[in-house]
Amino acid sequence: MLRSKIPSYVTNITRSVRSYSQRVAPPFTAGQPLFETRPFMVQPGELTPGITALEYFQRRIDLASKLPDQSLAVIVGSQVQFASGSVFYDFQQNNDLYYLSGWNEPDSVIAIEKPTSRLEDVTFHMIVPPKEPLAEQWDGFRTGVKGVVEIFNADESEDIYRLAPYMEKLINRNRNIFIDLPEGTKKQTTSTTFSNFFNIGSNAKMSSIENLLKSTSGKSIKPLSPYVSEMRLIKSSAELNVMRRAGQISGRAYNETYAKRFKTERTLKSYLEYRFVSGGCDKSAYIPVVAAGSNALCIHYTRNDDMLFEDEMVLVDASGKLGGYASDISRTWPSSGKFSLAQKELYQAVLNVEKECITKCTEDHNLSLQELHDMSVLLMRRELRNCGFGELTHRDVSKLYPHYIGHNLGLDVHDVPRSSRNSKLKAGQVITIEPGVYVPDDHAFPKGFRNIGIRIEDDIAIGKDTYRNLTVEAAKEIEDIERIAEFGVTTPNLEDEVVEVF
Ligand code: GLY
Ligand code: MN
Ligand code: MN
Repeated sequence: MLRSKIPSYVTNITRSVRSYSQRVAPPFTAGQPLFETRPFMVQPGELTPGITALEYFQRRIDLASKLPDQSLAVIVGSQVQFASGSVFYDFQQNNDLYYLSGWNEPDSVIAIEKPTSRLEDVTFHMIVPPKEPLAEQWDGFRTGVKGVVEIFNADESEDIYRLAPYMEKLINRNRNIFIDLPEGTKKQTTSTTFSNFFNIGSNAKMSSIENLLKSTSGKSIKPLSPYVSEMRLIKSSAELNVMRRAGQISGRAYNETYAKRFKTERTLKSYLEYRFVSGGCDKSAYIPVVAAGSNALCIHYTRNDDMLFEDEMVLVDASGKLGGYASDISRTWPSSGKFSLAQKELYQAVLNVEKECITKCTEDHNLSLQELHDMSVLLMRRELRNCGFGELTHRDVSKLYPHYIGHNLGLDVHDVPRSSRNSKLKAGQVITIEPGVYVPDDHAFPKGFRNIGIRIEDDIAIGKDTYRNLTVEAAKEIEDIERIAEFGVTTPNLEDEVVEVF
């Protein structure tokens, strides 16, 4: 059953009602935001922000349609990771599992079973933590074994404590098992991924899925990720809309930030992250880089603990995440709000490369990411020559511009890593375009540019004969940045905190 009706306990919440007495408790509890429980985050019909239950269902059917009959596709979800002792990290779900289900609770396994060529027979299994009042009092609500049938459209569900017998039944009745076993384990060794599941309960009889696979013969066991990666590479229009929203919110946050005069990297970082969330993103997509002056020469500078000096630029690589989808933006601007001549010259060089590469982001240009990168190196060489760097060899350029032009973007920041850099770009892919130049304090390079690092990064949705810049709001022209830095931004309707009740 796919939910679509708006329950009455939701419709009577309005934007202005904020008093506790008006809060109507939904008739169930769940482990992640749902329309019924968080109507300011998830719209009717959606399971996660921007993605409907129907789309998740369709993704499972599309996957099943690629698999042979008598197939079982199994995905093991993530567990909460601990920094030290009982201090846990923010939970990050296995993104293939999330992509196929929208499920965001830890300690779960999903399975898609395709018994015959009739897609109506495809069965979606969810094996999840059961409702347990004591555990929920400490760790938060769980959706539970019944809840996943009612809400996540599982056809069959089971308690994760009974994973082994349940999986045994599924494996026994299928011939083709698709599963991503941890590197190096394959059929021979024991996995920690699976054995960890058995810490969740005291059922000593449980053995791991891997042991089950090892003990069964006559089955074909293949990795699942190539199938899911291929699907994740091409974004649906709903995915593009979510990514656009994340890019827009994050881009506007940059403009707000240009208008401030922060004195330290960490305050700038915190303000930008605050603006991502207050604008409607869930959190940052990755740990931001906020690098003042020569700190920008370190590509993954995430200490963010230095001061900002007026005569230096600050390189920022930070962006928001929404409904699981990442955006990825870099901008570099002068801390004073006004570019010096040297800063202007080098910045414009990188900007020219970035803008020219973006215009090539269509399917009809028939380029691969690798070809786009090679082109960006040639463009960078030309731009640097114009700045007075002389005739640089390819090797010199790669010293100054040591990373790739970009990568696919989606649920992961470096999305679907299996995808080849050599495949031609296709409509529906989202890639970043992010040329950069980082000039060491080296006599080989013009004095005025030494110790400057600049990267400019946008997220581009590839179309057939067109492209769409998903992060277009983040100003990047020199005069725009200077104007915003001087006069501030006046984006209409940009409230301090954006909350819409659907
Ligand atoms: N923020 C990571 C990257 O730009 O690839
Ligand atoms: Mn980035
Ligand atoms: Mn990037």
